Amino acid sequence: MGSRLRDKGWILLVILCCSSISSVKGAVSYDHKAVIINGQRRILLSGSIHYPRSTPEMWSDLIQKAKDGGLDVIQTYVFWNGHEPSPGNYYFEDRYDLVRFIRVVQKAGLYVHLRIGPYVCAEWNFGGFPVWLKYVPGIAFRTNNGPFKAAMQKFTQKIVGMMKAEKLFETQGGPIILSQIENEYGPVEWEIGAPGKAYTKWAAEMAVGLSTGVPWIMCKQEDAPGPIIDTCNGFYCENFKPNSDNKPKMWTENWTGWFTEFGAAVPYRPVEDIAFSVARFIQNGGSFVNYYMYHGGTNFDRTAGEFVATSYDYDAPLDEYGLPREPKWSHLRELHKVIKLCEPALVSVDPTVTWLGAKQEAHVFKSKSSCAAFLSNYDPDSAVRVTFWGLPYDLPPWSVSILPDCKTVYHNTAKVYAKGVHMNMIPTGVHFSWESYNEETLSGNDDGTFTLNGLVEQISMTRDKTDYLWYFTDITIGHDEKFLKTGDNPLLTIWSAGHALHVFVNGQLAGTVYGSLDNPKLTFSQKIKLYAGVNKLALLSVAVGLANVGVHFETWNVGVLGPVSLKGMNSGTWDMSKWKWSYKIGLKGEALSLHTVTGDSSLKWVAGSLVAKKQPLTWYKATFNTPAGNEPLALDMNTMGKGQIWINGRNIGRHWPGYTARGNCGRCSYTGTFTEKKCLSNCGEASQRWYHVPRSWLEPSGNRLVVLEEWGGDPYGITLVRRTNA
Ligand code: GAL
Repeated sequence: MGSRLRDKGWILLVILCCSSISSVKGAVSYDHKAVIINGQRRILLSGSIHYPRSTPEMWSDLIQKAKDGGLDVIQTYVFWNGHEPSPGNYYFEDRYDLVRFIRVVQKAGLYVHLRIGPYVCAEWNFGGFPVWLKYVPGIAFRTNNGPFKAAMQKFTQKIVGMMKAEKLFETQGGPIILSQIENEYGPVEWEIGAPGKAYTKWAAEMAVGLSTGVPWIMCKQEDAPGPIIDTCNGFYCENFKPNSDNKPKMWTENWTGWFTEFGAAVPYRPVEDIAFSVARFIQNGGSFVNYYMYHGGTNFDRTAGEFVATSYDYDAPLDEYGLPREPKWSHLRELHKVIKLCEPALVSVDPTVTWLGAKQEAHVFKSKSSCAAFLSNYDPDSAVRVTFWGLPYDLPPWSVSILPDCKTVYHNTAKVYAKGVHMNMIPTGVHFSWESYNEETLSGNDDGTFTLNGLVEQISMTRDKTDYLWYFTDITIGHDEKFLKTGDNPLLTIWSAGHALHVFVNGQLAGTVYGSLDNPKLTFSQKIKLYAGVNKLALLSVAVGLANVGVHFETWNVGVLGPVSLKGMNSGTWDMSKWKWSYKIGLKGEALSLHTVTGDSSLKWVAGSLVAKKQPLTWYKATFNTPAGNEPLALDMNTMGKGQIWINGRNIGRHWPGYTARGNCGRCSYTGTFTEKKCLSNCGEASQRWYHVPRSWLEPSGNRLVVLEEWGGDPYGITLVRRTNA
């Protein structure tokens, strides 16, 4: 009874919200088979392209290549922290010009799946939440919490309102056919229970109440309420079933590779396995497949999530630079063509499934006017000859053959005819004439420092406006300390919640420690040289992106939380955690805006033989002219350690080639179940060596390149390269 009433409530809500747009042209609905656009069930092939991960100048080319690759839909998240940098201050320009992006998709004749979130995960800083949101009194993220729901609703309304005002929903003649609220909330709900359930219900009702006229989806949300479609994310989704017989089987994230984290090997996914996963999904009645990512792109600025590399290449069909990755792009295009040939049969009937062998099946979609068959071999080790409707078919291991007429094989997922193309990074010959500026280590008495009792959490101080927070204290050593005579120096131990730490004792770098995505926390433990009298301890704590996933990740800490101790003193071990500590937010060079073109006029840079090498906390600058041509450009940073890069004042992202990749990069076969740990490259080398320099950020001449180097590196090894397939 209760659930009947609930259903009625939903129906009323849907009627109320959709009646106002039903008179306008276009309509998007769905049934158990597919999304229905203007009365037609559709098999939709979709790809994720996140607008801030490329430049507006790249968008039309990327989208055209997605269209040429056989896609119908472009899927993107909406990035709240990019759009609302401070409460009520909205930004929709440049890479964050969402409306422009959607119009580019529309112009290309493709549809849009808009994943508003506003939680997005996405290896994006703080999962897309603005950092100020954490400091709203009484807030708890992604649960049944008043302040959070109010903020989430306000932003969601803002985006939906904007889309409506620009007439971007399909029902208004625009390209948006689907929206998404939340993101993979199911697992969180499972963990937190009742408040999670209440929040899901609220989010669903809030979204549906916004009357977009197009369906909403919730991914990884088995209990997606009412008309909201629950969808699958993963490397495989063939066995997924939505929570109602009236909802279509949709796959919102088919991971085409995986993201790179600093310090880890670079994952890749063989295209034979991707094609296999898609064919299996379609043969099992799936009707919507989205490649996450189709173009991954670049985490410019400080938009990368915790320990996530600047490159978000993802081994996607379009590489970070927007070039087709072969044979991936072409093989999937061939697959898409053949799936489209099957579309009339796929949308008309449910498949009949028969076994052709122990690990082989036939899925047949046969209607009065059409017939499509999928012959699959799940055996990872052996090719098999099967007989289907009296004819023999050879199936390679771990593959599906597609027969759009139930007779002829048009495609086998494991037979790749497209040629692989080796991408090269060719030096442009551009010469950098470097100047450097070395930041002397500050002390607690410098301008802009403030003093507190004890240790503080980093983000509460920086509000993530910078990666850097200095912690200073004085260590006063009496003349009678025994270690002064024995030379057995005291042991300094520092516990930090992450992510990297440079320890300076009396102005000298004593050591650097850093965590990893698996374990962001770190401990510095080293004997240090101290003198009788006052010794200056300066800790530079460095954040490397904020966590983007995990239950209540907003409560996770960064920075030196202690304990900090000094062992081997006459009185035993000193606990320094409660001492007076001075703090300074950000680096001196940041305060001086050294990254900008004009910011350094008063400063003494040095050139020629004086240019610093292998010194921590060094800023480098050089000017250069743009090389001719239109191939994408990148900086080879292999001789550098860790820091950030700017071109003409714009932040390319964090570099960290000094963090070499752990992991086992053995041979990798396309057969057998794929995981993100299965196929890896770059072991023992930099996780990320090359850094994308968007052409549109360059002037023909006089470009200013600025590099901040934290660890120490050799700028004379930096080269500007062209990415080519020649
Ligand atoms: C999914 C998530 C995406 C992205 C992906 C990994 O679980 O929904 O936003 O984080 O994992 O790349």
